[in-house]
Amino acid sequence: TRRHFSGSSSRMQAVNNMTVFGGGLMGAGIAQVASQHGIKVTLCDLTDQALATSKTMMQKSLSRIANKKHPDSKDEQQAYISSVFDNVTLTTDPALAVKDADLVIEAIVENIKVKKELFRMLDEECSAKTIFASNTSSLSISEIASATSQARRAKFGGVHFFNPVPQMKLVEVIRTEETSDETFQSLLDVCKRMQKHAVSCKDTPGFIVNRLLVPYMFESVRMLERGDATAEDIDAAMKLGAGYPMGPFELIDFVGLDTAQHILDGWRQKVESGQADSLSSDLVAPSALLSQKVKEGKLGRKSGEGFYKYN
Ligand code: CAA
Ligand code: NAD
Repeated sequence: TRRHFSGSSSRMQAVNNMTVFGGGLMGAGIAQVASQHGIKVTLCDLTDQALATSKTMMQKSLSRIANKKHPDSKDEQQAYISSVFDNVTLTTDPALAVKDADLVIEAIVENIKVKKELFRMLDEECSAKTIFASNTSSLSISEIASATSQARRAKFGGVHFFNPVPQMKLVEVIRTEETSDETFQSLLDVCKRMQKHAVSCKDTPGFIVNRLLVPYMFESVRMLERGDATAEDIDAAMKLGAGYPMGPFELIDFVGLDTAQHILDGWRQKVESGQADSLSSDLVAPSALLSQKVKEGKLGRKSGEGFYKYN
């Protein structure tokens, strides 16, 4: 139904201050793009070291963007990068991070328990007006929201960005049965201000993109495990034969093998507890190859090695 998009002129809470939890691949990208579009951002991670990595990721990405914006002037490139960083505050203190937050976006590890713990704590720390959103790839938004008070659940939704955030145009905006129209409109408005194209999907496993993309990634791993073809040939086949920008192994390396493993484990728990009719037990079977690589710390590009090596 189109119900979700009707009444776009209805009440909406403007977001001037955004707080992002988790400064990894996704959180750093979300914070960067929000700041690029004039939203004040606070980025919160567990350690100063993690935040230093977030800053390096933003710096690299912004350099590419600044080079294109101001090809002829190093000074203007630097001024642009500084202006984006001026809008970003980095902190390891969660209470301080949400002091002025109109919207909190969570982009921490893909684990339901850890996400619920964070939101339980934030529900107590934040003002009643603060909107909460999760960038989860595969978990249920309403299940995460259940860690918060009844009143907060009307202000809770999903905003699912794609990697690399500065480059990928899409955001999936998810409303649960309890998300209010006002919250939904505010989330759509933030996406628009960040110059993203928003699509809407019910609160289902993987929403639109990952419900289609993740089975494809796991099927590729199973193909490799069976010895049907090499990773290189499977990647070449999907790029040259199906026009994908990356092959499935390049893509898993890009997403992170730990995140892929978390998605698989989370979905398996759902199937085993009879909570996910649309997922099959074949799809969510454990993968020995994926588990082994994660155990060895081969998490993909971010750790220097996954299915391929990176320098
Ligand atoms: N920051 C800023 N700009 C970036 C960037 C970044 N991090 N990464 C790429 N770009 C820009 C480049 O500057 C370049 O811009 P121009 O075309 O204007 O010059 C453009 O993107 C293309 O980059 P490259 O030439 O370096 O490389 P490429 O053509 O191979 O593109 C890619 C890189 C955009 C990542 C492309 O390979 C791609 O689209 N890959 C697939 C990505 C994908 O499927 N993402 C979804 C993953 S699943 C997910 O996110 C959901 C989940 O929950 C797991
Ligand atoms: P990542 O491993 O790169 O980063 C996660 C960050 O969260 C780390 O820096 C970690 O220190 C931090 N963190 C963990 N617990 C925290 C807490 N309690 N408070 C503050 N920070 C905390 O992971 P990622 O790839 O950025 O993924 C983050 C989320 O986004 C996951 O839910 C994932 O499923 C989702 N997602 C990932 C992708 C992708 O392609 N990687 C795409 C879309 C959505």
